Amino acid sequence: MRLDKHLHQCIGISRSQASQLIRAGRITINGVVIKSGAQHVSELDHILLDGDPFDAPGEKHHYFMLYKPQGYVCTNEDAHHPSITKLFDLPHANKLHSAGRLDVDTTGLVLVTNDGQWSHRVTAPRKQCDKTYRVWLAEPISPDTEEHFAKGILLKSESQPTRPAQLEIITATEALLTIHEGKYHQVKRMFAAVGNHVTQLHRERIGSLILDPTLTEGQYRELTPDEIQLF
Ligand code: URA
Repeated sequence: MRLDKHLHQCIGISRSQASQLIRAGRITINGVVIKSGAQHVSELDHILLDGDPFDAPGEKHHYFMLYKPQGYVCTNEDAHHPSITKLFDLPHANKLHSAGRLDVDTTGLVLVTNDGQWSHRVTAPRKQCDKTYRVWLAEPISPDTEEHFAKGILLKSESQPTRPAQLEIITATEALLTIHEGKYHQVKRMFAAVGNHVTQLHRERIGSLILDPTLTEGQYRELTPDEIQLF
């Protein structure tokens, strides 16, 4: 969405008032002053007015954990697959976004909110919280994989190796992998780099928050105040 439209919707000001704020250099996105209303913004951007976060007046924040099924995307802009927001039977569902993304074919824990500052804290690279994935593989896991992942490996088209990750082997073709960052398709690319192929992927944990075992695929529940405070 364009920045001026985003400000218009969030703060309830007209498009021309939004343009004035932008031209006056009062808006930053991820720490950079932006002077064009046409700038594209997404739910992951950290947008400040005069150095402060803003919300639509009176808007209540909502925080959920969702058990994402396969076939849904974590963005609102995909021509081929429904958005996870379609799983929420709520009047304000179209204002929700996910804090971080899973691939369309990945299942498991996704945090969903309408609080952009909070989702920024969940996903900020500086604070990257651990994420644990259950991984099923096409080939038996080779004995040196655990060591490779613990040391960090250089993925195709990256300049830095992955941060040390912990692999717990469950069976020859199933494992738990805990990573401390969120590069694009990271888990699939890590196994590809050691000559294996992920056939199924499921996220069980983000930080100390575990997918509620009472939820089934497609179900969600509100986070408790203590869970919201974890991030
Ligand atoms: N790593 C992946 O490869 N895919 C996901 O959906 C999440 C992590």
